[in-house]
Amino acid sequence: MDCRVIHKKVLVLYYSQSGQLKRVLDMLIAPLQQCADVQCDFHQIQPLRPYPYPWPFYSFFNVFPEAVYLDGCKVEPIEAEDEYDLIILGYTSWFLSPSVPVTGFLKTNQAKRLFKDKPVVTVIACRDMWLIAQEKMKALLAALGARLIDNVVLTDQGKSLYTFVTTPRWMLTGKKDAFWFFPKAGVSEEAMEASSRFGERLCVALGNNEERNKAPLLADMGAVNVNGKLIATERIAHRSFLIWSKLIKKAGPPNSAGRNIVITIYSLFLLTLVLTVVPLNMFIRKIIYPFRKKALDAAVSYYEQPSGR
Ligand SMILES: Cc1cc2nc3c(=O)[nH]c(=O)nc-3n(C[C@H](O)[C@H](O)[C@H](O)COP(=O)(O)O)c2cc1C
Repeated sequence: MDCRVIHKKVLVLYYSQSGQLKRVLDMLIAPLQQCADVQCDFHQIQPLRPYPYPWPFYSFFNVFPEAVYLDGCKVEPIEAEDEYDLIILGYTSWFLSPSVPVTGFLKTNQAKRLFKDKPVVTVIACRDMWLIAQEKMKALLAALGARLIDNVVLTDQGKSLYTFVTTPRWMLTGKKDAFWFFPKAGVSEEAMEASSRFGERLCVALGNNEERNKAPLLADMGAVNVNGKLIATERIAHRSFLIWSKLIKKAGPPNSAGRNIVITIYSLFLLTLVLTVVPLNMFIRKIIYPFRKKALDAAVSYYEQPSGR
């Protein structure tokens, strides 16, 4: 590793429930911590009222409207220094949006001070739907005056059809093990271990002051892998999320009887949608794919930015 002696400070911020995202960051940061004269400060964002894990069914859906509308939640201030050379922000996707505690932190005055004019690398570990969440993250970071320079994404192992079962099972029961023909839930060990390559690259980049430039530091390293098939699904799902979130909010405050009634209706609607409209949509898209290839390729390369494939 080529590290010159320049003192650099890196702030690593994240919110992780099961510890998966924390492990991803631990592996990614490990080479950076070995790097001469780079100081890494690790801070977990703490909501004032902790969220449960595993999630009871109604608690899980109760956060849906606030996540979608980026309301955030109240969080503890972190004990960070005032100035950092680079911020690594780890977040998970909740209902196609950054998780509520991370949004909550990004809306604080402390975030305004920490992020202003700072280069930011986002690190996402989620099931496989993060495109809209990252669009929302871009807006939150822009509002803070931060510069998003890279995005690293790790998604759960197995096909979408399988993770549609394994990820919610894990969230609602805490069980991650493989069963029947389903793979283990979560990001694979290999993918987590391989993320150390980003830490190695960041060490070199910080040594060369590259974080001061506009160019990404993690280009052409496989930082993201955009699944083109999910672009339309995410866009359609998000439109319906905005409508249903409004209805659920109108039905009552979090955990009220009114809200839980609408959540029950919504979850049945969602299940029907997934079992009928989603396969139909996938089938139609397969047929029209040759005619839409150009537009799809353009959308994929848009979502791959800033780090690229
Ligand atoms: C309330 C909730 C909603 C979620 N929604 C999504 C989602 O829209 N897209 C996705 O890819 N993963 C989603 N996930 C999975 C998370 O992104 C993440 O993989 C999981 O919470 C494990 O992360 P952690 O244990 O490190 O916090 C959701 C999880 C929770 C708890």
